[in-house]
Amino acid sequence: MMVRIPGVLTPEQVQHCRQALAGAEWTDGRATAGYQSAQVKSNLQLPEDHPVARSLGELIMDALGRNPLFIAAALPLKVYPPLFNRYEGGGRFGSHIDNAVRQIAGTSHRVRTDVSATLFLADPDEYDGGELLVDDTYGAKGVKLPAGDMILYPGTSMHQVTPVTRGARLASFFWVQSLVRDDVRRSMLFDLDVAIQQLGGELPEHQALVQLAGVYHNLIRHWADT
Ligand code: NI
Repeated sequence: MMVRIPGVLTPEQVQHCRQALAGAEWTDGRATAGYQSAQVKSNLQLPEDHPVARSLGELIMDALGRNPLFIAAALPLKVYPPLFNRYEGGGRFGSHIDNAVRQIAGTSHRVRTDVSATLFLADPDEYDGGELLVDDTYGAKGVKLPAGDMILYPGTSMHQVTPVTRGARLASFFWVQSLVRDDVRRSMLFDLDVAIQQLGGELPEHQALVQLAGVYHNLIRHWADT
């Protein structure tokens, strides 16, 4: 399931991030890549423990915690602290699947990467190329969103970022360990949740809503690992 979350950050927050990132020291993105992905990766990243990454990461985590669509779609148990990357001058990241488990730098905490997230910090007209291509059941889906918007996609999927041939593509990326590891189950729960919300808006007094909400929570109880 791919879900677009619009307006995770306000235009002012995007501006704040961009100003902070403009003055930061970027390093070669291959530093955090495994042996295989290092061969197809050419971009810049902010080191995980960089103070700018830490403080902007907190701003993003705070915004996510108050975003009902993100919570409904990802059912987050743990969120890997957001990282930042920059593609320019032909920079790209060829087809790969992200590592299944990531250790949070400087801690013993590990996050299973059930859901991958890209939060765009540059608008589509600022750069050419730099499309996120995610393989799903029906072929590759291209994603290029306005600054402040985010895309969620299954951590299990093959994906790539196409070469940036003009301008710079700036983004934050991170992973979520979900309460519900399986993407099929998670997407059914999301559909059920959306339908319940819609019914609740139109027929708030309907008795079946209580039963449906109960089924939703009992499914989570049944499927959640915590
Ligand atoms: Ni990736």
